[in-house]
Amino acid sequence: MREVVLNGLETLVEPADPDTLERGAALIRVGRLVAFPTETVYGLGADATSDVAVARIYEAKGRPRFNPLIAHVADVGAARRLAVFDPRAGAVAARFWPGPLTLVLPRRADCPVSLLACAGLDTVAIRVPAHPIAQALLQAAAVPVAAPSANPSGAVSPTTAAHVVQGLAGRVDMVIDGGACAVGVESTILDLSGPEPVLLRPGGVTAEDISAVIGPLAVPGADAHARPKSPGLLLRHYAPGVPVRLGATAVGPGEALLAFGADVPEGAAETLNLSPSGDLTEAAANLFRYLRALDRPGRSAIAVMPVPERGLGAAINDRLRRAATPP
Ligand code: TXA
Ligand code: MG
Repeated sequence: MREVVLNGLETLVEPADPDTLERGAALIRVGRLVAFPTETVYGLGADATSDVAVARIYEAKGRPRFNPLIAHVADVGAARRLAVFDPRAGAVAARFWPGPLTLVLPRRADCPVSLLACAGLDTVAIRVPAHPIAQALLQAAAVPVAAPSANPSGAVSPTTAAHVVQGLAGRVDMVIDGGACAVGVESTILDLSGPEPVLLRPGGVTAEDISAVIGPLAVPGADAHARPKSPGLLLRHYAPGVPVRLGATAVGPGEALLAFGADVPEGAAETLNLSPSGDLTEAAANLFRYLRALDRPGRSAIAVMPVPERGLGAAINDRLRRAATPP
């Protein structure tokens, strides 16, 4: 066992033995962060069903915005409890899982994955990795595990435990060392949530392989030059049906209030407080759920109190600005 202490926080770096996997799974179940190897790249994992655990991922990566995360599960049965599988999804899952393929599918009505992990979308990205250590961890954790690549925002994806430690020491509770990743590039992302299959990100499984199972794929921005740099650019973002008014310090007639902090104005049709104590991790954890809850017909607007721009506040404000911008 090795410990790296940075910023006063301890990161355990452990060889992937059965004891480590048990402890890693236990950490995940109590909402902590565990980096683990998959056959593509190392993932920064947390309980996907916990808003607070997911908020910690964004905090650790220092992401300037809430990109939706992939929910990792051990097998197709667990995946089917999260999303609606049509025959196309069933066919590619049967052919390529476990493996380096992520499917974007409609969330089931009873999908337990945090709305924050899905960035408020009606879809969920699911992957069943093949790596034996990832498999063992997912089975022991027995919850879907949200995991982006285990690097700080803007850095390249890590393919060894040492890369993870370089980028995230002091920001992750445990790094499970499983050696180098075999594939080395991220999973292919296939969006099957609409009528046309769309390849959002090329990766470990090729478009040709997928086409052989479900026919031609639409590639966004067809020619290579027009292709957007980030699959995030293609996301349909959740936008509330009622107008969103930012920077609110008072409440207007018929408005619902998304509050922050202790000093909350009176008179709203309904008030939900992102964090009465002004904790930005708690605020991030509540953001998408509260926006949806306040988005009810008949309201004149959702008034949103100012949120400080520091730490996770930058991502919260990014999301709120989009919600306030008419499509
Ligand atoms: O190989 C991989 O996929 C690695 C390992 C750890 O599994 N993970 C990974 O995660 O690369 P990340 O967060 O770096 O990239 C996930 C991508 C993001 O670009 C995100 O926009 C997209 O998946 N994504 C996630 N959920 C989505 C959704 N509901 N709709 C569209 N795109 C989604
Ligand atoms: Mg990444």
